[in-house]
Amino acid sequence: MSKPHTNRLYFGDCLDVMQEYLPDNSIDLIYLDPPFNSKRIYNAFIGGAQWVAFDDTWRWYEAVDDFDRVARLPDMAGTMEGLRWMLDESPRMAYLSYMAARLLECKRILKDTGSIYLHCDPTMSHYLKTVMDGVFGHINFRNEIIWHYQTGGAGKRWFARKHDVIFLYTKSSGYEFYPDRVLVPRTDEVIRRIKSGVKNATRAKTLYKLPMDVGTDIPALNAMDRERLGYPTQKPLKLLRRIIEASSNENGIVFDPFCGCGTTIHAAQELKRHWIGIDVCVTACEVIRDRLTTHFDSLWSDIDFVGLPIHMDDARSLAEYDPFKFEKWAASIVRGMEANKRQRGDKGIDGRGRLPIAKGKFLDVVSQVKAGSATRGHIQAFDGARREARADLGVFTCFDDKVTEGMRNAAATFGKHDDRWPVIQIFTIEDYFAGRQPDLPIAS
Ligand SMILES: C[S@@+](CC[C@H](N)C(=O)[O-])C[C@H]1O[C@@H](n2cnc3c(N)ncnc32)[C@H](O)[C@@H]1O
Repeated sequence: MSKPHTNRLYFGDCLDVMQEYLPDNSIDLIYLDPPFNSKRIYNAFIGGAQWVAFDDTWRWYEAVDDFDRVARLPDMAGTMEGLRWMLDESPRMAYLSYMAARLLECKRILKDTGSIYLHCDPTMSHYLKTVMDGVFGHINFRNEIIWHYQTGGAGKRWFARKHDVIFLYTKSSGYEFYPDRVLVPRTDEVIRRIKSGVKNATRAKTLYKLPMDVGTDIPALNAMDRERLGYPTQKPLKLLRRIIEASSNENGIVFDPFCGCGTTIHAAQELKRHWIGIDVCVTACEVIRDRLTTHFDSLWSDIDFVGLPIHMDDARSLAEYDPFKFEKWAASIVRGMEANKRQRGDKGIDGRGRLPIAKGKFLDVVSQVKAGSATRGHIQAFDGARREARADLGVFTCFDDKVTEGMRNAAATFGKHDDRWPVIQIFTIEDYFAGRQPDLPIAS
């Protein structure tokens, strides 16, 4: 059995990364907190400004390849066809197809003794449990954990929604589980009754008890929390510590395929586990880099970044040796932009984003990346692609030494949107490493 490289942060789609880098039966514990199909665009508040960190909206045409691949597998055909019969080619079905493809990879890389925690919310949890049953087998279902918290508002049209759902599945019945490492305090009332002899506690006359599948003792992070990094959907370290301690041992390998601002990685490092993280958002990877540097000074030189250039030289070699990965990265370095999910038929568009200009109002932005030489004609063709994609603005990304006077003049001819933002602008990799961003809407 080969071992994966650990203490590694990958930039990219977790499906591609798992397929390319992670061997079969090699991971002890997987925690995943994927987008929930919340139909929301999540904003990050970092450095005093707001930008879109990831887009949790789903389109069938982006997931049809995932559906075809999964539905072809004899063990999954019934589940996928059944769901499609119910949901047709809806955004929900797109989301579930996308998730099924990634969960199958999780199963492949999980050790027979391993566990997987899937964190979701009630929007999709009922469907996701069906998919998890299909992938891991219903006999390997162990818990539906209700994480109850108090933050957020209360709706007047329904009861206040105050919980997330975390499914625990294992790969077999021979899994590792150590609940006595994560005992939780008894309530004051129970302690009082034990002490006064009213409650006949034969088993544990202690202050602690084994944890239940309904958790109320871990608060969600509030706006003023010191742990907060400004990344949307950040989970508390306490939650991850509990999961990691209960389901892995020191030196075990903990993996988070949707690692956001790196809560799993942070907790795993603290608890002396090896870790692997993936995120498709450059902003997330940048936040993790800063988080690890702040908390684990000595770790810095031991972390491996894959697909995420840290210096100009890295960017140049990525462009030379793996132009496809370079394109994905460069399409995502503009705050709020994501590389295309689909790999073909992009019609000159490599990345997209919806950037907020006011409450509920957005501008659509597209980008094109060119690693090699470019001309004025490329800029003109890109504007055609922008219009065809019905986007308001376009960002053309390339290396500084490839930019010509003719390209700049061509970009200037397209003028400004609302007299404010250049319709077409050129952004260079050098700009990015100098900490600059294109002139795009950023709500503050
Ligand atoms: C709900 S957030 C995770 C938050 C994380 N648990 C934390 O505490 O910070 C989901 C993350 O998944 C990332 N993501 C979405 N699709 C992805 C994909 N295909 N591969 C890897 N990461 C992805 C998003 O960029 C986002 O950072």
